[in-house]
Amino acid sequence: MAANETFVNVTAGLEKYEGATVAPLGDDFETVGEIYSESPRITVRSVSVFYGDKLGIRDVSIDVGTNEVIAMVGPSGCGKSTFLRCLNRMNDTIDGCRITGEIKLDGQDIYDPKLDVVPLRARIGMVFQKPNPFPKSIYDNVAYGPRIHGLAESRHDLDEIVKTSLERAGLWAEVSDRLDSPGTGLSGGQQQRLCIARAIAVSPEVVLMDEPCSALDPIATARIEELIAELREQFTIAIVTHSMQQAARVSQRTAYFHLGRLVEVGETSRIFTNPRHKLTEDYITGRVG
Ligand SMILES: Nc1ncnc2c1ncn2[C@@H]1O[C@H](COP(=O)(O)OP(=O)(O)OP(=O)(O)O)[C@@H](O)[C@H]1O
Ligand SMILES: [Mg+2]
Repeated sequence: MAANETFVNVTAGLEKYEGATVAPLGDDFETVGEIYSESPRITVRSVSVFYGDKLGIRDVSIDVGTNEVIAMVGPSGCGKSTFLRCLNRMNDTIDGCRITGEIKLDGQDIYDPKLDVVPLRARIGMVFQKPNPFPKSIYDNVAYGPRIHGLAESRHDLDEIVKTSLERAGLWAEVSDRLDSPGTGLSGGQQQRLCIARAIAVSPEVVLMDEPCSALDPIATARIEELIAELREQFTIAIVTHSMQQAARVSQRTAYFHLGRLVEVGETSRIFTNPRHKLTEDYITGRVG
């Protein structure tokens, strides 16, 4: 069977890559650490993703807890973005991408064929690595989601949503006098906060962030990190980062991926002080990556 052949090839690749230093992440591999959350918002069970015959992630099971920030870390190509995109079905938009397993948001199967992905992506918003404001005004960038989802009954309501979202994203003071200017005219850090305002304007339950600070300077990064800490009071946040320091600063839980496997997950403080898997230890101490 073609699917099985794929698995065999993938496993062989993993073992070869691992060489003699670590146990192969073969068929009997199990994630180390605490995959369960006391108050799960999202439950991911045995999820694998393939791009054609290429492995994205393999057999990942994890909970994302309510009002937690969970950081996804690991070497380039290990499957962090793939995992994140599973959570709001962004992988659906990639040709040849196939997913197996089960993902539930508040107990509801998000891969149910009857489920409409448009409201799903309002409930689980996303912020990308490169700020991508629409070629529209600052106001219209933020108002876009509430408009298409019919969240405002009047112009006054919409003004309120735009203002509150920009305030929560820490951008209001800088743009309140130029809401009609193009969003693309802002600085990189401001554009990223605008994208965060746009994501939260539809009152999502979960916000996914894929390396949201990688294009930003340290000051803009610090601002986004403060924002993540504030947003956690209202939203659940899953963030991909290449910065161990950032993961340590912003997250309560950390998940370490390696070659498509979720190797280890647990409380961030525990992962960074007392990793249980050698691969995790090698990565956080800078021996790999
Ligand atoms: N659209 C795609 N088509 C084919 N293969 C893909 C696609 N996207 C990702 N992959 C493959 O899936 C695997 C996981 O990729 P992914 O982008 O999830 O890694 P990542 O951990 O986010 O890496 P990075 O840190 O470089 O962003 C890689 O082997 C990658 O080449
Ligand atoms: Mg990525």
